[in-house]
Amino acid sequence: MAFPVLQFNSFLIKLVFLLFSALFAAGQSECNVKLGSTLSAGDTSLWSSPSGEFAFGFMPLQRSDNEDLFLLSIWFYKIPEQTIVWSKNEYPVPEGSKFQLTNEGKLILYDPQGKEIWTVNNGGSTCAAMLNSGNFVLINGDSKYIWESFREPTDTILPGQILGMDGNLNSRQSEANYTKGKFQLSLQKDGNLVLYTIFLPTGDESSAYWATGTVSKNADFQLIFDEAGYVYLKQGNKNIRNITKNDMGSPQEFYYMARIDYDGVFRHYNHPRKNYAVGTEGCKSSWSIIQNTPEDMCGAIVGDLGSGACGYNSYCVNSNGKPQCFCTDGYSFVDSFDKNKGCKPNFQLPSCQQNGWELNMDSIEFKELNNTDWPLTDYERQTGSQVDESRCKEFCLQDCFCAAAIYNGNTCWKKKFPLSNGRQSKDLNRIALIKVPKGHMTNTCPKNKDQSTLVIIVSVLLGSSVFLNFLLLFTILISFFFIYHKKMLNLQFDSTTFGVRRYTYKELKEATGGFKQQLGRGAFGTVYKGVTPSIPKRYIAVKMLNKVEPEGEKEFATEVNAIGRTHHKNLVNLLGYCHEGENRLLVYECMSNGSLASLLFGISRPHWNKRVQIICGIARGLTYLHEECSTQIIHCDVKPQNILLDDFLTPKISDFGLAKLLLAEQSQAALTNIRGTVGYFAPEWFRKASITVKVDVYSFGVMLLEIICCKSSVEFAMGEEEEALIDWAYDCYSKKKLNKMVENDEEARNDMKNVERLVMVVIWCIQEDPSIRPSMKRITQMIEGVAEIPVPPRPSVFSSS
Ligand SMILES: *[C@@H]1O[C@H](CO)[C@@H](O)[C@H](O)[C@H]1NC(C)=O
Ligand SMILES: *[C@@H]1O[C@H](CO)[C@@H](O)[C@H](O)[C@H]1NC(C)=O
Ligand SMILES: *[C@@H]1O[C@H](CO)[C@@H](O)[C@H](O)[C@H]1NC(C)=O
Repeated sequence: MAFPVLQFNSFLIKLVFLLFSALFAAGQSECNVKLGSTLSAGDTSLWSSPSGEFAFGFMPLQRSDNEDLFLLSIWFYKIPEQTIVWSKNEYPVPEGSKFQLTNEGKLILYDPQGKEIWTVNNGGSTCAAMLNSGNFVLINGDSKYIWESFREPTDTILPGQILGMDGNLNSRQSEANYTKGKFQLSLQKDGNLVLYTIFLPTGDESSAYWATGTVSKNADFQLIFDEAGYVYLKQGNKNIRNITKNDMGSPQEFYYMARIDYDGVFRHYNHPRKNYAVGTEGCKSSWSIIQNTPEDMCGAIVGDLGSGACGYNSYCVNSNGKPQCFCTDGYSFVDSFDKNKGCKPNFQLPSCQQNGWELNMDSIEFKELNNTDWPLTDYERQTGSQVDESRCKEFCLQDCFCAAAIYNGNTCWKKKFPLSNGRQSKDLNRIALIKVPKGHMTNTCPKNKDQSTLVIIVSVLLGSSVFLNFLLLFTILISFFFIYHKKMLNLQFDSTTFGVRRYTYKELKEATGGFKQQLGRGAFGTVYKGVTPSIPKRYIAVKMLNKVEPEGEKEFATEVNAIGRTHHKNLVNLLGYCHEGENRLLVYECMSNGSLASLLFGISRPHWNKRVQIICGIARGLTYLHEECSTQIIHCDVKPQNILLDDFLTPKISDFGLAKLLLAEQSQAALTNIRGTVGYFAPEWFRKASITVKVDVYSFGVMLLEIICCKSSVEFAMGEEEEALIDWAYDCYSKKKLNKMVENDEEARNDMKNVERLVMVVIWCIQEDPSIRPSMKRITQMIEGVAEIPVPPRPSVFSSS
């Protein structure tokens, strides 16, 4: 019978095949890159690991000029943020460059003309492999690795990777520039694990700012990143020092990496393995920091030589392990895109020459900074009980060499240029007195080297006539606020210095063509379109704040400073301000895509996935305001009109920090009569309860609901049924009729599981009792799918009304 014979034959063939592959597997099982394979810069070719988690190839660099450059790299391939973990960073190459595993078994990088740029000069390999660990290896006939990317790390190490003695990691220049930067992690021959600043371009070690101090004669040290995700120092086979001390989740759930970042901090990160994405490309989870080494970079990096963490003339503030850099009033950033490069004075340096401003006592003023110190560069000191702050100022005033003075209660130090290692921290009991020429601050305009992004126009607020009513109502509310009460928001701001520029009224009048083109009007004032006089031109949004009780210059400056200190992808950037007499103006970057309100309630509904990404961005921005910036900021007015969108529809929160500025005197009592009308306000606004960050959580919940349904809560309330959007939402949820909420929205209806999750988040946010509402951080985790969402209780306010 033919049939069984045939079967037998195929069985034989399989057997022989299996046998063969088993034989081969011993030698070549890992090979996934054959001799002769080539990658080209500019096309999509890459070599990926069997799991698809890592890829080897050419990564395009984000650059300002026109030439496209590519970096030969290994990166996390499965996660949205394709993070580079290894690169040939000395050789960014143009399009058309090639990387080949030659038939002779060499790895060669060619430029577009075919010239060899870099060769792994081993030869004799039989294949190469991109391994699941993230290691790229050349394999020889004996299955030995003759070259490994793990043995030539750049700035990152991964689980399974070992840094041997004499091994280094070098930071990059900046977030997007992978060229060798100014920090190095080094496991020295003597066993000491040290973080160094280095001199560029030679790369020689300059000064150490952190070390384990583990020195030993018979040193046999390794820095281990084990498969479980821990980083530790091993001597012989003993773990002698844990670098990772914090909980980091299980390796089944997270990816890990450790990297010496461009700010000099060696950070251990994790990232959820699964993108529990809402929608297919929905919410992008991101890397979280598990451990910062050192924990306070600002305080750690104090050497006799060098500028400190933030460059010369700047000062550094530790914000959750991240050194943030600031210039004092009268100085501006050398490079406004890289704030670690220090600050330059906006005036001529004192030189003790005739006619110098520093010789005319009347033209000098001192800017004060509490809790701030430049510990080095002093050249003279006065001590004694008779030395007080005004004496200290006087010493510096009378000395034309003096750039600044530091005063600590009984000692006064005179400082010379350039100031270095500046630091501000609550535990520094010193006042910095910075000498600047009066009125000089605004005369020099920091050169704006912003290149490509021609930012276009904000169009804030104002969609429908319904909204106008709402606005009117809100304005009345605000007036009530001012007529009555005392301070209520207890936010602490501790400094009066600026990372933002001060403009004159005249400048802004010119920039806006006499406040001609109105972009919108909001609770706090009117917004005008403007354009900076600098070349290339840059569009700005100038907000003229409503006139209220004249407030002290100092207080205004303090608030503006707090706003100016915030830097987050999801916050609108404050560029500057103006305060002259009654005129108080704020200058923001301009956003090209208008407000979320106009997008959501406009003609064409934005895609579901886009909406989900917007939700994630707003949640992260609010988390930053509440928990991550150096002083907590309660927004108090979260609503779609205050979310602006950039070219890429990245949401940016605007108007934050203004509540403190303008609602300082407000009345809760005035609100009690208008209960329920103003959709975004948490119930505690209408009671004698204290206002906390949870009011923003409530407003976020209402807005989240609007984003899900693309319905405005204000409009909804004006409808026939007199039913609030949120009551309706809870009904839909509890009666399992969620698809009513996304009628006519095909994309959302195909993603009902996530609609439900988001609605559950909404219900958590709008709980009447603020203490039951989760924190923004928790909410962000819920949205990202990192945290479970428990079944929410019924928000009681609605059942009772
Ligand atoms: C990165 O910075 C270096 C030094 O500042 C500069 O020479 C190089 O052009 C930059 N690279 C890119 C890709 O922008
Ligand atoms: C490192 O941490 C582990 C727990 O994660 C602990 O068992 C061990 O004793 C620590 N080692 C040192 C040297 O601190
Ligand atoms: C510095 O602190 C003192 C006392 O704590 C306070 O009176 C003063 O206003 C502060 N100065 C600034 C500039 O914030």
